[in-house]
Amino acid sequence: MHEHDVIVVGAGGAGMRAAIAAEEEGADVALVSKLHPVRSHTGAAEGGINAALREGDSWEDHAYDTMKGSDYLGDAPAIETLCQQSPDEVIKLEHWGMAFSRDDDGRMSQRPFGGMSFPRTTYAGAETGHHLLHTMYQQVVKRGITVYDEWYVTQLAVTDEDRPEERRCDGCVAYDIQNGDLEGFVAPDGVVLATGGPGQVYDHTTNAVANTGDGPAMAYRAGVPLEDMEFIQFHPTTLPSTGVLITEGVRGEGGILYNSEGERFMFERGYANNDGELASRDVVSRAELTEINNGRGMEDDYVHLDMRHLGEERITDRLENIIHLATDFEGVNPLEKPMPVKPGQHYAMGGIEVDENGESAVSGLYAAGECACVSVHGSNRLGGNALPELIIFGARAGWHAAGREMETAEIETGPGASIEDADLDTPVEPGEIAPRSGTGDVAADGGTRADGGAQVMGAAETVERAVEAEHERVTHLLEKEEGVREATIRSRLQKAMTRNVNVFRTEDGLKQALEDIREAREAYTDVYVSDPSRTFNTDLIHTIETRNLLDLAEAITLSGLARTEFRGAHWREEYQDRNDDEWIKHTMLSWNDGQPELYYKPVVLEGENKTYEPKERSY
Ligand code: FUM
Repeated sequence: MHEHDVIVVGAGGAGMRAAIAAEEEGADVALVSKLHPVRSHTGAAEGGINAALREGDSWEDHAYDTMKGSDYLGDAPAIETLCQQSPDEVIKLEHWGMAFSRDDDGRMSQRPFGGMSFPRTTYAGAETGHHLLHTMYQQVVKRGITVYDEWYVTQLAVTDEDRPEERRCDGCVAYDIQNGDLEGFVAPDGVVLATGGPGQVYDHTTNAVANTGDGPAMAYRAGVPLEDMEFIQFHPTTLPSTGVLITEGVRGEGGILYNSEGERFMFERGYANNDGELASRDVVSRAELTEINNGRGMEDDYVHLDMRHLGEERITDRLENIIHLATDFEGVNPLEKPMPVKPGQHYAMGGIEVDENGESAVSGLYAAGECACVSVHGSNRLGGNALPELIIFGARAGWHAAGREMETAEIETGPGASIEDADLDTPVEPGEIAPRSGTGDVAADGGTRADGGAQVMGAAETVERAVEAEHERVTHLLEKEEGVREATIRSRLQKAMTRNVNVFRTEDGLKQALEDIREAREAYTDVYVSDPSRTFNTDLIHTIETRNLLDLAEAITLSGLARTEFRGAHWREEYQDRNDDEWIKHTMLSWNDGQPELYYKPVVLEGENKTYEPKERSY
């Protein structure tokens, strides 16, 4: 058994910033991550970090753009915290030595990004996330923070009271990928989840294979509500054959989108008469797919992104990485030809419900970064707002867990007083299915059942019990000699989600997806691991991850079916209007006795000095 005051799960931008913040408060903190920190998916972030740094810009303008971008579903206290604190955090990164791109006068460069009324996206070439990760990792090493890398956290250790608000997270269980041991981690001051997004729910995604939503899935099963899961961002410019991201920075620098008729369709077809290619991502992705679906795409699959007119010198100076990505992954040299691009899954706006201090409804359990929903992005995230979210809310979670006195959060969490109950109307029963063969007391979710009962135990005992349950689950998976391979289940799931829970959604399609997920869940009850080894058993790891993907795919689809309006990234064929009278509310799912329950909570539009009035959103 290991013990540290604070355990941070995941060592990307949010995780490392949380650990550094906890260390700043004097805590004994450890990072536990299934990847080495500098291999985390934050390294794939290309475009930049939004911060109101310059004369003529202000945090208020940044907040206004972000609220508009969210289509009035972001919570004002979170958005304002983000926009107020971003300049200081960016300057802190600069002081830590991050290699930002510079103007001739030495100031950090900033460029335009979609949906922003000011060029406030600070960047390091087209590798901003890579530089951020390395800068943070230097701080982690310098401060002597303990890192358990290649340890996969598979289960939280949470007490068993009836209501999530009464439960306590005492630590977690992790699988040592190098030797197959399962060990407990006790964390008296808190566990911070920073595990990234669930991009692997889809088969065309910019996300790394490690992005399997482990944090949200574990928290959900421990009774923590998931918020706004229906809002998935599809980035307009991904390479068709791999999903590799081509940064919005290309359009920020002046790159142009063309259809097969040579039209600059964002303007010529009236999708965004003011901002064109720099409209927000939901708008551009829908425009591209409309062009493709109406026969004006190339090979019925993609459109063109042209940056040749920017000239080799500027491209090499600001976007060099894009030359390598397009050449290596698509065989197209963008200095010579336009790049083929199409929308691909990129980001989850929803996640673990937390407040501005990163606290969830379960005491001692925090979350930050893409796995969390605080909520700054509402129904659509603006490009360049993910990296500031990581560092600001990562830091706040780390400080709070380590005991810093912070202002009381304005955002409420947990099924509190102001919720609106709702019924799930689904074609098939959602939720847990019991495994086909006996696994003793182990639930199909593989371990501690945080729902029901009222056992109150000491921290070490809670963790010990979770280790035992995980041990039983892993042994069962390794000893089972035949059944269905996880890769078959995962691939079916990804195809179902890409087919029916994509940019354009219909009621029939969402219902079909729920049926497909149900079938995949049934297949999972017979899953087996063909590799029996205890060293770097990726088959076992992927099998555990796939269980997480199943729960999150279902949560995304259930939430999407429930929201009968068109807002931000959530387009519904049958509901073509944003319905502010009924739907300025967050979709909440909580997991009780193995079944998802739906309810809603109000959006907070009251900011520090003003209330954000929903307006028509055009670009
Ligand atoms: O396009 C990009 O560089 C991505 C940025 C982001 O998602 O914030």
